[in-house]
Order: sequence, then structure tokens, then C-alpha cells
Amino acid sequence: MKYFSIKKILYCLAVALSIGITPNEIHAKPKKDAIQSAVSNLLRNRTRTDLINYIIKKNNYKTYLEIGVADGENFRSIQIEHKDGVDPGGGAANYQMSSDKFFSENSNTYDIIFIDGLHLSDQVLRDIRNSLNCVSQNGLIVMHDCLPQTYMQQVPYIVPGSWNGDVWKAAAHVRMKFENVHFCVVDMDWGCGILTPNSSQTLFPYTPKDQLDWNFYQQNRNTLLNVLPLELWIQSQ
Ligand SMILES: C[S@@+](CC[C@H](N)C(=O)[O-])C[C@H]1O[C@@H](n2cnc3c(N)ncnc32)[C@H](O)[C@@H]1O
Repeated sequence: MKYFSIKKILYCLAVALSIGITPNEIHAKPKKDAIQSAVSNLLRNRTRTDLINYIIKKNNYKTYLEIGVADGENFRSIQIEHKDGVDPGGGAANYQMSSDKFFSENSNTYDIIFIDGLHLSDQVLRDIRNSLNCVSQNGLIVMHDCLPQTYMQQVPYIVPGSWNGDVWKAAAHVRMKFENVHFCVVDMDWGCGILTPNSSQTLFPYTPKDQLDWNFYQQNRNTLLNVLPLELWIQSQ
């Protein structure tokens, strides 16, 4: 059986070489197929999980950190070699503690970090700053809940039902103050912010936090947060 398998592999290699395919291309095709399949899943399901799995596949990322894991609905479905999850409430997290405590003790770096913990702007901004200190050189940070749809979904206190909190204000701060990153929000699954370190962006004109109210958000959302439809974002990759 073993002999047959080796023979078969050698035969395939011989055929491939005889029609001019190099061993590198034989390896590359499954990767291309895997990326294509990840894009199809993303376009069909439009979830944070499919977005993260696509980014991982496309960039060949190996390490993942999720801040705010809850029962692991997203965490369990992330396909990567190594993943860590942080949540003071326990659940599926392997680090059962607040993100502040985790980052104060952490010495690992991660290729991709998903921020989805406490949805209050000051906490989110701290999670972003701490993530920037431990994301790898070519890594990315994804932030959930950047696009609330109603006033009540973005109040700065926990309400029952869909609650995005004022994550959008932390995202706005990045757009107004962080020159050396690129930031956009993909318009799907409550708004998935994508922060690319070691890059650049044209800043949104600075507006003090006390003027960042619901009215301001409604009038400026797309330019303030650099919102992109999913299809356009995929094309830009
Ligand atoms: C929206 S849920 C996470 C959902 C999960 N990321 C997913 O996509 O399935 C938010 C989680 O953040 C956790 N959380 C609250 N405060 C936190 C903190 N300071 N640090 C880390 N996680 C926190 C909560 O316990 C809760 O489980």
C-alpha cells in the first residue's frame, strides 16, 4: 500500500514535470484554491469569522489572539496553527482575565488580533494600543462592532439585545490621530474595523470627543470610519 502511494506520487511528479509544472506550482495551487474557497465563504456568509479566516489564509498567518471570547462562537471556528483567547468571564478563553491584565503580562507576538471585549471606547482604545505593541511586523488588528445601527446600540452602558457600545468612537480616534496605520471598516457583521500597522492614512479632521455624538456619527459615518463595502475591500487586497 505504502509502495503504491509513493509510486503514485512519483508518477504524478513525473507527469507534472513533463508538462512543465514546477514543484513550487504544485504546492501553490492548493494555497490558491484555499484562498478562493475562503473568499467564497466570506462572500456567502459575511461573518467576522469568515473575514478573519480569509485574512489568515491570504497572509499565511500562524498566530491569533482574540480579546473577548465569550462562549467561543467565533474563537472555535478560527483556523490557524496557534490561538489564544482572553476573557474575564471564562467561557472558551484560555486566559481567564481582563485584557488589561493579559497585556501587562504578555510577551508573545501575534499575526492577527481580534478586539471584541468590553465595548467602551476608552477600553477599546487601550486594547488597540496594547495590540499595536504585540502585533507582528506584517500583522493586522480586526475590531468588531464599529457600525451601530441605532442610538441605543451605541450608548456607553450595557443594554439588553444587540449592543455595540461606543466602539465607533475608538475607531474615530484612530482615524483622526493615528497617522502611521491604515484603518477602514468593512461594512458587514456590525462593522469590522481593519487596522494595518506600519502603513499610512489621510486623517479625518480632528473633532473633540464631546462632539462625537449620534448626530455626528450619522452625518459622517462613511468618511469618519472609512467604511467600505465587502466586495470593494476584497478587491483592494
Ligand atoms: C461580544 S462578547 C465576545 C464575542 C466573541 N468575540 C465572538 O465573536 O463570538 C464580549 C466578551 O468580552 C468579554 N469582556 C468584558 N470585559 C472584558 C475585558 N476587560 N477584557 C476582555 N474581555 C472582556 C465579556 O466577558 C464577553 O464575553
